[in-house]
Amino acid sequence: MPLFELDSSQHIDMLRDRRSRWARSLPVRAARAVAREFGRGAVYGIEWGDPDVWDPLRFVRDRYVLPFVKPDQIAVEIGPGGGRWTRYLLGFKTLYAVEYYDALIAEFEKTYGRNDRVKVIKNNGTDFPGIPTSSVDYVFSFGCFVHLSRSLITNYIANIKTILKPRGNAVIHYSDKTKIMAQLNNGFSDNTPDAMRKLVTDTGCRITAEDTTTMWHSSIIQFTR
Ligand SMILES: C[S@@+](CC[C@H](N)C(=O)[O-])C[C@H]1O[C@@H](n2cnc3c(N)ncnc32)[C@H](O)[C@@H]1O
Repeated sequence: MPLFELDSSQHIDMLRDRRSRWARSLPVRAARAVAREFGRGAVYGIEWGDPDVWDPLRFVRDRYVLPFVKPDQIAVEIGPGGGRWTRYLLGFKTLYAVEYYDALIAEFEKTYGRNDRVKVIKNNGTDFPGIPTSSVDYVFSFGCFVHLSRSLITNYIANIKTILKPRGNAVIHYSDKTKIMAQLNNGFSDNTPDAMRKLVTDTGCRITAEDTTTMWHSSIIQFTR
């Protein structure tokens, strides 16, 4: 089964693997019970790094996420997983959380299912069903495009262009195979800053910022339509 295509079991396997590892670990279960009790649930994905704690992710949070959050604006998060980054996006008027896999929607809804500002959308892999054309101020995706094939990314960028407002911004984190840690990670798709720039500009979008240094296995591109 192709790793980076929609019928890949990669994301369900990752969730299942995490559940079984965590279920076996008594200290982790105890920590989660305490976290739940005090209102800070340990969301799926926090084991890849907590943006409140780990410097590179804190930089991403402070440079590419928080400055965009506005209470009168609309945002989309693609592939939110357990919601590791979603907690920083709750200051938008509406946040559409766009996800392809049912199991991940169920996981996400454990934390965000009752938040009125968060609208969960199950998509068909690269589209934004129900989100009007030219209605979105900010699109964010972290940890999702690193696993997608170039053809899925191409379709996503074209669809992002359609939903973005004229001066809206998209921030996408993607696999960077020019970096050794991406080369060593078989779960990361074949992509580079050069290839990603071309995918974005071929769609007619304009690159407004890039970060090829903060993450050791990936890079970030920011663009507008
Ligand atoms: C590795 S997790 C990252 C989750 C979260 N963004 C984070 O950083 O913790 C990848 C997420 O992307 C979702 N995903 C994978 N392919 C997708 C697609 N084509 N469209 C939307 N979501 C997708 C997965 O189900 C999963 O929720």
